[in-house]
Amino acid sequence: MKYLVTGGAGFIGGNFVHYMVKTYPEDQFVVLDLLTYAGNLETLRPVEDSPNYRFVKGDIADREFVMQLCKEERFDVIVNFAAETHVDRCILNPGLFVRTNVMGTQVLLDAAKEYQARYHQVSTDEVYGDLPLDRPDLYFTEETPLHTSSPYSASKAGADLLVQAYHRTFGLPVTISRCSNNYGPYQFPEKLIPLMISRAAAGERLPVYGKGENVRDWLHVLDHCRAIDLIIRKGTPGEIYNVGGHNERTNLQVVKTILEALDKPEALIQYVADRPGHDRRYAIDPKKIERELGWKPLYTFESGIEETIRWYLDNEDWWKRILNGEYQSYFESMYGERLKTGETQKA
Ligand code: NAD
Ligand code: TYD
Repeated sequence: MKYLVTGGAGFIGGNFVHYMVKTYPEDQFVVLDLLTYAGNLETLRPVEDSPNYRFVKGDIADREFVMQLCKEERFDVIVNFAAETHVDRCILNPGLFVRTNVMGTQVLLDAAKEYQARYHQVSTDEVYGDLPLDRPDLYFTEETPLHTSSPYSASKAGADLLVQAYHRTFGLPVTISRCSNNYGPYQFPEKLIPLMISRAAAGERLPVYGKGENVRDWLHVLDHCRAIDLIIRKGTPGEIYNVGGHNERTNLQVVKTILEALDKPEALIQYVADRPGHDRRYAIDPKKIERELGWKPLYTFESGIEETIRWYLDNEDWWKRILNGEYQSYFESMYGERLKTGETQKA
């Protein structure tokens, strides 16, 4: 099997590539990534020398380039992780989110259709909108209507609808996974957990939006990667699978857990102005993937967060090079003039 993994230099895509390259040495994995601010080739160092891995720099929204790549490579599977993903950034630049998340997805769907690839869309529980804080009995199922709050979630919902439309109209074999908030190694330190770990480790203030009462449903990234692998291999074309591990925590609980693990005072918490349109609660009902595909998370939140905090402490270099901007020079230093957009490593 030959996979195209888009967005593989990001957090979840990078962890997926690590997992797949090692688990399936007989399969080929080509990563396509634009290396935006969120893409980091240093995340792919663990697989850099693997014979079944290759990196290509490029834009999923560049139709001509994507079509040419897919024509040459004839992928069996396209897994799309590539996206603009940070809600705070979508408030500043919604158009970029529509371009990458909606139009980029459509280009990939056209490529999958033209060159007969199986297609998997990595989506999010944020497409369902949010749940009230005083109704702990409510969960998102695959039947919950799409009801988005932010330009990010709206662009992801638009992409999901296109994916379903390509299945219905063109018979394209597609699947969609909608996962809850991920945490784990290699997450860009703008997202809640790595941001708070890196700031707490440095003794800096921790900005908590509003009162810190918003609830997120946390899943370790490797449990998400295992779910995606299972859906690609065993999922039914045309189906959506919710992925989550029943690990709901308020933001304040998460921040306090991190402070306690690092032996830092709660006085570091700084309550700041709330995010506009801030979703209150996300909560996934994962019964379908558990029942139909036998998926179960391996991590509890307690075991996962402890391991994750340890990882950030042991890998300070990885996130400090992001904070000081050095990570972006790694691409040039590794490939220099040899690798411009569209050219491939080990070509
Ligand atoms: P990320 O921001 O860490 O990584 C995104 C990657 O996509 C980066 O490597 C970036 O360079 C690349 N990219 C951006 N625009 C591109 C373009 N036009 N062409 C090619 N590559 C491009 O994101 P993540 O947290 O790893 O999320 C991956 C996917 O999972 C996204 O689709 C996101 O919506 C979804 N998701 C994320 C979470 C979460 O908690 N992080 C939860 C559920 C679903
Ligand atoms: P985030 O990691 O941005 O993920 P998402 O918004 O996609 O769920 O944020 C997780 C939660 O943490 C969300 O409720 C917003 C909150 N938050 C803060 O309170 N302070 C911060 O500095 C950040 C980045 C997030």
